Amino acid sequence: MNHTYLVTGGMGCLGAWALYHLHRQGKRAVCFDLSDDRHRLDLLLTPVEQAAITFVRGDLTDTQQVRDVFARHAITHVIHLAALQVPFCRANPPLGAQVNVTGTVNIFEAARNTGVRHLAMASSVAVYGPPELYGAGLLPADALVAPRTLYGVYKVANEMTAQVYWHEYAISSTVLRPYTVYGLGRDQGLTSEPTKAMLAAARGEDYTINFGGVMQFHFASDVARQFILASEQSSGGAHAFNLGGEPVAVAEVARLIMAARPGVRISTANTVLPFPAGCDGSALRAHAGEVYETPLAEGIAATIEAAAAWSDR
Ligand SMILES: NC(=O)c1ccc[n+]([C@@H]2O[C@H](COP(=O)([O-])OP(=O)(O)OC[C@H]3O[C@@H](n4cnc5c(N)ncnc54)[C@H](O)[C@@H]3O)[C@@H](O)[C@H]2O)c1
Repeated sequence: MNHTYLVTGGMGCLGAWALYHLHRQGKRAVCFDLSDDRHRLDLLLTPVEQAAITFVRGDLTDTQQVRDVFARHAITHVIHLAALQVPFCRANPPLGAQVNVTGTVNIFEAARNTGVRHLAMASSVAVYGPPELYGAGLLPADALVAPRTLYGVYKVANEMTAQVYWHEYAISSTVLRPYTVYGLGRDQGLTSEPTKAMLAAARGEDYTINFGGVMQFHFASDVARQFILASEQSSGGAHAFNLGGEPVAVAEVARLIMAARPGVRISTANTVLPFPAGCDGSALRAHAGEVYETPLAEGIAATIEAAAAWSDR
């Protein structure tokens, strides 16, 4: 099969995991990223394994560069992950809009110009507002979007962009909205704290996660596989899905970390992030047929073990 997968943001956490799984699945991959810092990829793939991937250093905000990567590498599948996360958008809103919004338009334009008919891309739970806006229970995928961060506003714009490219150009898309991703390589962004606590535990150190409350946790490896699947299933529309899963107290994550590494003390703060406690993932299950969900205790233990093994090398 002459399939070539483009992973934008391949040097990031989810991007590195996507490249890892594409490699394991024997699929040809092109990584497009502004950064050439391979520290996350190095956690997952040996240099020899990385040699099978094509790396293109480029800027998502540059329309021509994005178009060129599609055309030169005959891209057939797209996993669009590159973005600036909440703290970076907060620090520089115009740049956040350029990367997250204009960058996404550039991806759709490149798809349109090179005949790609479907793509998968990342949105976020940050499209929703704080819990008090909603009733009890899991939030359905079509609940009111009411972002309280510019990052969330940009993600809403991207979801709307996807709608327009479906209606005007019949380019379909599957948009996934992760909540808190954890796992190796999750070292930046508002919700990277639980992973930082896991890494501290792997070093035998105590840690305080600087927020509390209840949220949904997704193992980075699972999310990456879900994106690969989403890029392969033409969706006949522009569909945005929550990943779902059990809402879990951050304090419970701290307890699971301590259970995996007895002797360390992991605590949480009282601050609650401005996102709902949990979003219903049943629409994704019905659409995708398969939802990857490593049990939380297992994902936490695997992350701590892998981090400890890495630091022992
Ligand atoms: N990690 C989470 O918990 C989470 C939750 C919800 C949504 N998401 C979304 O999932 C996607 C991936 O998240 P992540 O955790 O892997 O992010 P990350 O911050 O680890 O990686 C983002 C990557 O994008 C690249 N990038 C930034 N600006 C660029 C530009 N102008 N051109 C090309 N590349 C550029 C960065 O160099 C980086 O490698 C993002 O769209 C993010 O908003 C993540």
